[in-house]
Amino acid sequence: MKISVKIQRQASRSSNPVYQTYEVEADPQANTVLDILNKIQWEQDGSLVFRRNCRNVICGSCGMRINGVSGLACQKLVSEVLEIQGSLRHSPASTESDLNRDRDRVLVIEPMHNLPVIKDLVVDMSKFWDNLSRVDPYVSTASRQISNTEFLQTPAQREKLQAAANCILCGSCYSECNATNVSDRFVGPHALAKAYRVLADNRDDLTTERVAKYNDLDFVWGCTRCYNCNEVCPVGVQPLDRISQIKQEILQDRELPESTAQRHRHTMVELVKESGWIDESKFGVKVVGNNFSDIKGMLSLIPLGIRMILSRKMPWPWEFKPSEAKQQIKTLIESVQKRGKDGGS
Ligand code: SF4
Ligand code: SF4
Ligand code: FES
Repeated sequence: MKISVKIQRQASRSSNPVYQTYEVEADPQANTVLDILNKIQWEQDGSLVFRRNCRNVICGSCGMRINGVSGLACQKLVSEVLEIQGSLRHSPASTESDLNRDRDRVLVIEPMHNLPVIKDLVVDMSKFWDNLSRVDPYVSTASRQISNTEFLQTPAQREKLQAAANCILCGSCYSECNATNVSDRFVGPHALAKAYRVLADNRDDLTTERVAKYNDLDFVWGCTRCYNCNEVCPVGVQPLDRISQIKQEILQDRELPESTAQRHRHTMVELVKESGWIDESKFGVKVVGNNFSDIKGMLSLIPLGIRMILSRKMPWPWEFKPSEAKQQIKTLIESVQKRGKDGGS
């Protein structure tokens, strides 16, 4: 079967991207996207540039955007990609079935997002690696010196870090990350997955320092919980789940000075327990104003507070009414908190 492959080409960092289309004979059930790129490079256009190595979802080299979603070219079968595209495009009411069938035969290949393009599908991953090093992604040297022989782990200890340890640093999650897209300082899902991998390692002796370091907007609190990283990770690392696990460690650490992000979560639970929902007028004062002790924070709330009241997004304090179900909600939260304290899951 002939398929069309539309590839984003870019001659250099400073040039503008253009799309080039190739017609390729393919077996969609047997060929991966990487097979198709190889065919193009070997048989039609030797100037096409992309990364590849293992061809087997091991090295993480072939990360790219395939029909709008980042992933590994050597993992995606052509049929899988075109089927996804078809299911999005076809609706029962479609009267353009022929046209749609042709469109379903178009593979669109682009370089990963959130990283500058060097040439064609090859991106400069310096920032990705620099951000990884910001989480100090190694089991600490001090603990490595404890034993001159093997430092064994039980299966249960190993299991704890298994998902995060699967990361092959392909960059797919980074490419789709909304927080990375808007913040130059956010370390990215790959780095936080690795952060959890060392945090969960019983051989590491820097837990306290790590928890304090990751308790920051540039680290776990910068994540917007968009789920994109979980959706695209080709090897089941589920970075967002790892980020949530780090947050749990932070929230349970009573020694840490309370950050705004922690206060945000504690206050939310407190207020919902008190009245069944969030009293916005108290929320801002407690979180941003730190209970009247942060004058700058308090002043910053005034314009927002006025806008919220005028647009009726927040009631006047005397209009606020607790939920009728507040007692049930309180009981529910307390039982969850008790389970947490008792070590229940
Ligand atoms: S869930 Fe968080 S870390 Fe993952 S892609 Fe979204 S913003 Fe980035
Ligand atoms: S977490 Fe998954 S998507 Fe992100 S770099 Fe690692 S393997 Fe790739
Ligand atoms: S070539 Fe190694 S992961 Fe695709």
